[in-house]
Amino acid sequence: MNSVMPCILERRSIRKYTSEEISKDVIMQLLNAAKWAPSGNNIQPWRFSIVMNNKELIKKLSSLTVYHNWVENAPCLIAVFLDSKSLDDKIPSIYLKHAQSIGAAIQNMLLTAHELGLGTCWIGEILKNEGKVRELLEVSDDLQLMAVISVGYSSGKELKSKRRDITESIVSWF
Ligand SMILES: Cc1cc2nc3c(=O)[nH]c(=O)nc-3n(C[C@H](O)[C@H](O)[C@H](O)COP(=O)(O)O)c2cc1C
Repeated sequence: MNSVMPCILERRSIRKYTSEEISKDVIMQLLNAAKWAPSGNNIQPWRFSIVMNNKELIKKLSSLTVYHNWVENAPCLIAVFLDSKSLDDKIPSIYLKHAQSIGAAIQNMLLTAHELGLGTCWIGEILKNEGKVRELLEVSDDLQLMAVISVGYSSGKELKSKRRDITESIVSWF
């Protein structure tokens, strides 16, 4: 099995979706991929709130981001939280470790979604409205919003994306 690299190279952020609903089974596949991400001390600090088949709630959540024009058309939104109860301490480096684990879990979801023929977009801009997202999703104050992921079947053309040459990002190599 060697399917990771093509997924990494082909995955693009998708911001246009068809109206086709996503099945619960597909969402479970994404969440199962997320759960296999590495995490510091295997704490698995991620928590998820899924909104699907609920246009009204999707619209309300969309209104909390400047990207509402396309987010509201996503058939599914997955809010990803960090469970602050998993932070034994408020030491910044511990927080960072757990936040990084959640990034790994999100990337697992995005790559799996791509493999399943779905398009996703990682929405960070909505973080400024964390409190309102928590309120709409009725989740506890212990959960810190890390991102909202839009999920749907892509409509429209393939998007292009660029990266700078990796040698520009290497600061040293001994
Ligand atoms: C932490 C994070 C936050 C992001 N927030 C947003 C966002 O709020 N809105 C958006 O349209 N895209 C967002 N993106 C997607 C990036 O714009 C996108 O990954 C980048 O432009 C590269 O494009 P590609 O994913 O198609 O390769 C975010 C990505 C990451 C990793």
